[in-house]
Amino acid sequence: MDIENIEKQILKLREELEDHNYRYYVISQPVISDFDFDMKMKELEKLEQNYPEFADPNSPTKRVGSDINKEFEQVKHERPMLSLSNAYSEEEIKDFDQRIRKIIEEEFQYVCELKYDGSSISLIYENGSLIRAITRGDGSQGDDVISNIRTVKSIPLKLRGNEFPDRFEIRGEVVLPFAMFNNINEEREQEGEPLFANPRNAGSGTLKMQDSSIVASRNLDAYPYSVLADNLPFEGHYQNLQEAKKWGFKISNDSVLCNNLDEVFNFIHKWDKERFNLPVATDGIVIKVNSSRLQEELGFTAKSPRWAIAYKFKAEQATTKLISVSYQVGRTGAVTPVANLEPVLLAGTTVKRASLHNSDIIKNLDLHIGDLVYVEKGGEIIPKITGVDLSQRHPLNAPVVFISKCPECEKQLQKKEGEAAFYCPNEIGCPPQIKGKIEHFISRKSMDIDGLGQETIDLLFSEGLLSTVTDLYTLQKEDISVLERLGDKSAERILKSLEDSKSIPFERVLFGLGIRYVGETVAKILAKTLGNIDKIKTATVEELTDINEIGGRIAESVVNYFSENKNLQLIEKLKSFGLQLELSEEQQASRTEKLKGLSIIISGTFENYSREQIKELIDQNGGKNVSSISKKTSYLVAGENIGPSKLEKARALEIPIISEEEFIKLLES
Ligand code: IVH
Repeated sequence: MDIENIEKQILKLREELEDHNYRYYVISQPVISDFDFDMKMKELEKLEQNYPEFADPNSPTKRVGSDINKEFEQVKHERPMLSLSNAYSEEEIKDFDQRIRKIIEEEFQYVCELKYDGSSISLIYENGSLIRAITRGDGSQGDDVISNIRTVKSIPLKLRGNEFPDRFEIRGEVVLPFAMFNNINEEREQEGEPLFANPRNAGSGTLKMQDSSIVASRNLDAYPYSVLADNLPFEGHYQNLQEAKKWGFKISNDSVLCNNLDEVFNFIHKWDKERFNLPVATDGIVIKVNSSRLQEELGFTAKSPRWAIAYKFKAEQATTKLISVSYQVGRTGAVTPVANLEPVLLAGTTVKRASLHNSDIIKNLDLHIGDLVYVEKGGEIIPKITGVDLSQRHPLNAPVVFISKCPECEKQLQKKEGEAAFYCPNEIGCPPQIKGKIEHFISRKSMDIDGLGQETIDLLFSEGLLSTVTDLYTLQKEDISVLERLGDKSAERILKSLEDSKSIPFERVLFGLGIRYVGETVAKILAKTLGNIDKIKTATVEELTDINEIGGRIAESVVNYFSENKNLQLIEKLKSFGLQLELSEEQQASRTEKLKGLSIIISGTFENYSREQIKELIDQNGGKNVSSISKKTSYLVAGENIGPSKLEKARALEIPIISEEEFIKLLES
């Protein structure tokens, strides 16, 4: 193919892929199979790799995320992003309506929309391409998180047709669907990490992540709620949003125009119940005057528009009796109190238990056994106790006192500084901790041991055959086959799977160790950057935090883990059984020590490699990719559009500034 045809082919593939994307994620009417889609995507990826001169940041290939954002650019909003005033009753909506009618004397329509509970985003399009995606920030300026927003498949990177304004802004809410929220929390629970309280927190955290490939895996969604430009096609807000649908935006089909307050109230009553069937969290409805001319006439107060109000849904609440509090010990030793309640119906499900999270919450609520308590299901999935009906408390009801000894092993509980949770320190003698660690090690995402499950682990543990993960590799067929409900066949299957697990890649073994805060992603990063367990074992907090995405909390936990003799012994044993404790030869082959001892900072954009690829090259060749310039920095690899302050600082500190080409030469030398 000649170069012209290659460009044509690239453009054609981009257009096709963006169209399939629209059909799948915006209108839910896919016309090709996932396989065919993947094939086309692969073809485009390859062409873009071979012909970087046709690169486009809005190519569909960018939706999988790749850039590491060290810091987001702060951008001023063209129009301030205000918030809405709230109403909690129909009375307050009537007052809102009265205030408007004092100013506006003609008939007008309201538009009612769902109030999505996520993070607001301002998207700027120029000539049909997304050029900026700015968070609300402080309302007057926010962060440009465009590389993360490109991973949101329902947000068009290129618009359809050509009927849109040359330049416009569209604002909306970025949300994390419930299904994904539950997934993330399940994972965090397995990894002993604190759970996100609700999809809003999880979503806004995701939007600010530095690694856009992790953002891509979280399947964020977005609901636009207003279009802003000087030359919009219609006077009505609702009509403009409908028009934006034609440009490729996923505009909610649930908004309605209302001619009077009764219609507004009907909308509220409908969604007060039906919102529970939506795939994403909503916390109310927004009522807006539809005409932009009238909106202008009404104007703004200092904080919010006079032409709109948010009606907040009441959290579903029920009252029930607190029967008892029980305590669960997790694999990390953290003790979680759980309230056992008299069953009560709440938002469509029967609630028998509520999480109490930690001892502070019990203290703050001043809980007594037998109390009549209020339970709520707000944005959270797990119901929580929000208060006590003190008027109903019997004087003999005993206060709930947090246990001081482990309910499983009787050891005195401890509290770590700065943490709300109590821990059982008896890591090697407390059954749920021992069994929990083994269960984590054999789980699908780690060693994936076929045939071994919680029940078998329980049996092997009570027979005294298992007390650490290393015991798995000395199990004999007879140990297993004599157990209840197991026979020769299952024993063979388990042993074969254990044998096979010796070729499970290093990063999964590392994850399986169950080091606090070292989840799947962190394990991958550590394995890839440091290459083997010995390097991880001896790394200092400083060396660890120099790695992208590794913060102080993780670094300290890793150093702490390897400071304990029993863990070092465990690693040596696993090594002796032949488990993978370093990257595979193939992974290693691409590693050198050419940049050993060098701290390299990169800045700007590059011609032949993405920033992520350059960082990987630094990692693979034994260098250290650092994020801020200091006297210790060895090189600044400067790309295009490098920030002037960085350049200035490098010059002041006399740090050698090299180009992309010179950097590659450094590797080849
Ligand atoms: S209109 C001047 N419409 O709720 C503000 N906001 O405090 C105009 N939100 O920050 C906002 N769904 O992030 C509007 N259908 C909707 C919305 C919505 C969610 C969020 C938005 C805003 C907050 C209001």
